[in-house]
Amino acid sequence: MTEPVLKVQSLRKEFGGLIAVKDVSFEVGEGEFVGLIGPNGCGKSTTFNCISGLLEQTSGKIEMFGEDISELRPDQIQNRGMTRTFQHTNLWREMTVIENLMVPPRKQFGTNAKEFLKAILSRNNPSERERLMDAYHALDQLEVPHMAHNLASELSGGQSKLVDIGRSMMGSPKLLLLDEPVAGVAGPLAMKIFNNLRNIVNETGISILIIEHNMDFILRQGVDRIVVMNEGEVLMQGTPDEVRANQKVIEAYLGAAGKTEEE
Ligand SMILES: Nc1ncnc2c1ncn2[C@@H]1O[C@H](COP(=O)(O)OP(=O)(O)O)[C@@H](O)[C@H]1O
Ligand SMILES: [Mg+2]
Repeated sequence: MTEPVLKVQSLRKEFGGLIAVKDVSFEVGEGEFVGLIGPNGCGKSTTFNCISGLLEQTSGKIEMFGEDISELRPDQIQNRGMTRTFQHTNLWREMTVIENLMVPPRKQFGTNAKEFLKAILSRNNPSERERLMDAYHALDQLEVPHMAHNLASELSGGQSKLVDIGRSMMGSPKLLLLDEPVAGVAGPLAMKIFNNLRNIVNETGISILIIEHNMDFILRQGVDRIVVMNEGEVLMQGTPDEVRANQKVIEAYLGAAGKTEEE
């Protein structure tokens, strides 16, 4: 059996007295499109921050293709083929879309300017021309090539999210972690984004782990598997059908949602 792309084992993160992530374990396989869902504040972004090396976990282990990456820096993890987006999209507003794609997001490289520049210049050492081709290819895959020369400051919220996803696709990563890429995005565009991501997974064999807080929405978006978190823990994981039928999920989540709809 091949190693999973990502293996999270008993991940725990405490902030002072608060246990934000409590012994979370799950895997993402090659070419898998996995949803990570749960109510606000249940520890989804913190899980991403630990996986991508931005935060040091309190305990637990994270492996990528069988390699222990728990102690690596964000840039080292990125060099192994994992990229991520953040819940709050932060584009370079004074740059065009295509320029934004060619410059990686600052946070993944920390705040050290020298390190940041080195990372930009040495990103798998592709030439400027190759990176430009990569950037256009990402926009094509997301079906927004016409946005290439728009200024980031002119984009809508949904369009900014799309550019952010495109940026995470630069350098042919093997695993994308997307933190609520469709939050605040209008329904039709949100569905189109999920559809494009599904196609990208099918066509390239890349793996995607995507955070979404809307359970009802993600159940209908064609992901392979869903990891449901609640209060820092994994409540259950399974296919959308299994999640839909799970009594614990219905009680913790769908039950409450169902009630609101009836009102
Ligand atoms: N850097 C931090 N310092 C202190 N508490 C934090 C920090 N980041 C997140 N938290 C807390 O951890 C919990 C989980 O937050 P988060 O992972 O952002 O949840 P989610 O992404 O599921 O909405 C929340 O109670 C949040 O306030
Ligand atoms: Mg979050």
